[in-house]
Amino acid sequence: MKKIVVTGGLGFIGSHTVVELQNSGFEVIIIDNLSNSTISVLDGIVSITGQIPTFYNTDLKQKADVEAFFKGHNDIAGVIHFAASKAVGESVNEPLLYYENNINTLVYMLQNTTQLAHAPFIFSSSCTVYGEAKALPISETSPIQPALSPYGNTKQIGEEIISDVCKANTNFNAIALRYFNPIGSHESAKIGELPLGVPQNLVPFIMQTGAGIREQLSVFGDTYATQDGTCIRDYIHVVDLAKAHVIALKRLIDGENTTNYEVFNLGTGQGSSVLEVIKSFERVSNQSLNYKIVDKREGDVVAAYANTTKAKDVLKWTAQSSLDDAMRSAWKWQQQLK
Ligand code: WQD
Repeated sequence: MKKIVVTGGLGFIGSHTVVELQNSGFEVIIIDNLSNSTISVLDGIVSITGQIPTFYNTDLKQKADVEAFFKGHNDIAGVIHFAASKAVGESVNEPLLYYENNINTLVYMLQNTTQLAHAPFIFSSSCTVYGEAKALPISETSPIQPALSPYGNTKQIGEEIISDVCKANTNFNAIALRYFNPIGSHESAKIGELPLGVPQNLVPFIMQTGAGIREQLSVFGDTYATQDGTCIRDYIHVVDLAKAHVIALKRLIDGENTTNYEVFNLGTGQGSSVLEVIKSFERVSNQSLNYKIVDKREGDVVAAYANTTKAKDVLKWTAQSSLDDAMRSAWKWQQQLK
């Protein structure tokens, strides 16, 4: 079995990708320092696939520890690098935490992965690199705009680092996947989103409000130039996203890539407003949601949704789940969390 290293493999998108990798016949090695995840996610993965990933609680900020890991694993067939801090607001207050955790770790992972014979590298990037895109839907050739947060900047810098490494190492192959808004949970409700503390993102906050954990959802503004005044995003089911990672990895392992650095948007191509997401929750949960309209949130873009043509034509991948499917799975997960 080909061995794949998944950093941040106990996180939200990482854990769902581990399941899809195992389902596709790969042996998975997870590296996760549990700074934004819990070891119970490992049990969730095993309960779905019956396969136990090898797990290393290694802090990728420790260069010597990363080198020690790779010294013991020279037979790795690929790397999917999720490990990073991802809270936009926190990154504004703690920029150095983000540059250390998101950039240093990427450099150490690349230094070691490029030493392996044939190990392609998949990078977890984000549509945040586009900022407030001038044209919608957003394609991979849409301009990269100055980042609105240190978090977003670490994704832009990360892509530039990988691009430079690929230019210098023509036998090193990488793909950056720019996610839109991942939501939902595995249908088994054995794994899902586990926000630590007060959720910053819309869907986990909706779910905790629906479950009575939060009193009321604050909708950050309804005077935007959109059909109902609230911001529009492209909410993609996390399992669709996970499956795209396996497809991208196989593309590189099988040498089907046309250049040694490629970029793909991963979204549904469908934009949904905040109020539409709330209505979706009310449909799938059969309960009304307590929310109020408050001031706009600093840094929010008005609208972002993907042009999905490249992923469809090149990866032969399209998202299969609807907004209601994703919200239904997230609600099922929230209910079993009690
Ligand atoms: C979505 C919409 C909010 C919370 C961020 C990162 C992005 C990615 C996903 C990591 C916006 C509104 C939200 C709330 C609200 N993270 N909202 N009340 O900001 O599109 O993207 O998370 O990769 O990189 O930038 O997602 O879920 O925070 O917000 O009204 O309590 O919901 O204003 O319009 P966002 P989000």
